[in-house]
Amino acid sequence: MSDRAEAPRDAEPTSLVLRAFRGLPVERTPVWLLRQAGRYMPEYRALRGRHSLLELIRTPELAAEVTLLPVDAFGLDAAIVFADILPPLVGMGLELDFAEGDGPRIANRIESTRDVDLLAVPPAEETLAGTLEAIRIVRDELESRGTPVIGFAGAPFTLASYAIEGGTSRDFTRTKAFMLSEPAAWKRLLTKLVTVQADYLRAQAAAGAQALQVFDSWAGRALAREDYLRHVAPSNRELFAAIASAGVPVVNFSLGVGSYLTEAAACGGDVVGLDWQLPLDEAWEAVGFERPVQGNLDPASLLAPRRELEARIDEVLERAAGRPGHVFNVGHGLVPATPPDSVRRLVERVRERTSR
Ligand code: CP3
Repeated sequence: MSDRAEAPRDAEPTSLVLRAFRGLPVERTPVWLLRQAGRYMPEYRALRGRHSLLELIRTPELAAEVTLLPVDAFGLDAAIVFADILPPLVGMGLELDFAEGDGPRIANRIESTRDVDLLAVPPAEETLAGTLEAIRIVRDELESRGTPVIGFAGAPFTLASYAIEGGTSRDFTRTKAFMLSEPAAWKRLLTKLVTVQADYLRAQAAAGAQALQVFDSWAGRALAREDYLRHVAPSNRELFAAIASAGVPVVNFSLGVGSYLTEAAACGGDVVGLDWQLPLDEAWEAVGFERPVQGNLDPASLLAPRRELEARIDEVLERAAGRPGHVFNVGHGLVPATPPDSVRRLVERVRERTSR
């Protein structure tokens, strides 16, 4: 399996998403959606009826098939490889399971500094080969259509929170207690996560991912600004610095960091992913209009009647004001109750309103 030779960074990309990620002019605003492949699609639910989530993720042909489902159904402008942020923890030694209706569970969560020191730091080619192969398949499939494939991984805090809590948390008590009581082991944990995630992201780019997105889903929800700056930002900076040489644009998507969006964006990445909490123009101003952004429709908008959905789409577009460097997206993942017709309508509306 040979890795793809990357086009030199200064060659102008032709796809709308990759152009917008570099702040270049586009003929219309490109659109793709977080969790665009998921339970809201009957085709996905049918596949899930036959395979567990981890089976879908680890079987390259199945992961590629799921990746392409929404791209084919709705004509989205990018594919995001079907995977999850948690499987890298398995290679490190954690036992991950997605319990029915209960979200992710880790049977042997981190409880002590010794548990941190026992974590392995294996290369992605060994432990995440299925996702890398899925990227190769999807890239080959989409190359002729000019649709880029996006790879992704979780940021260190978000992964550490699952490793320590043993699942999704409401208040991150165990994570924060560990961070504050064992600062040296906390730093070692985040350093290991940076190593694993940087290698995984670089491997995704080498396998053909044309952009990378880093999800920091929970730091903003869990931490005060000063704790973020002291205990999280240094690791995020290390991660973004380590993947800057991958040769593809990187999206820094740090959710819920409204009160320290500027600081979170300053950790790195070419593009800033915006959640739905601040109006787009205010958030964009906070990160700097020279920096491309992606977002920021509230995914609940897709549950609203058509008129309300359209008004909310239009508002995001009005606030983007046709500036170069906006990729339309939701501000957090689509929920399972999303009607597929709303997704169809959204894509059409963005096209109608922005074709220049
Ligand atoms: O199409 C895409 O967007 C790509 C696929 C994707 C998944 N997870 C598949 C998935 C992506 C980008 C993710 C990222 C992810 N996973 C994040 C970061 C983004 C965010 O939402 O904040 C996080 C925190 C996770 C962890 C995770 N995975 C949780 C908490 C859950 C359970 C909650 C839920 O929605 O069920 C998952 C499961 C998961 N990952 C599903 C999918 C499609 C649903 C599970 C299923 O099919 O049974």
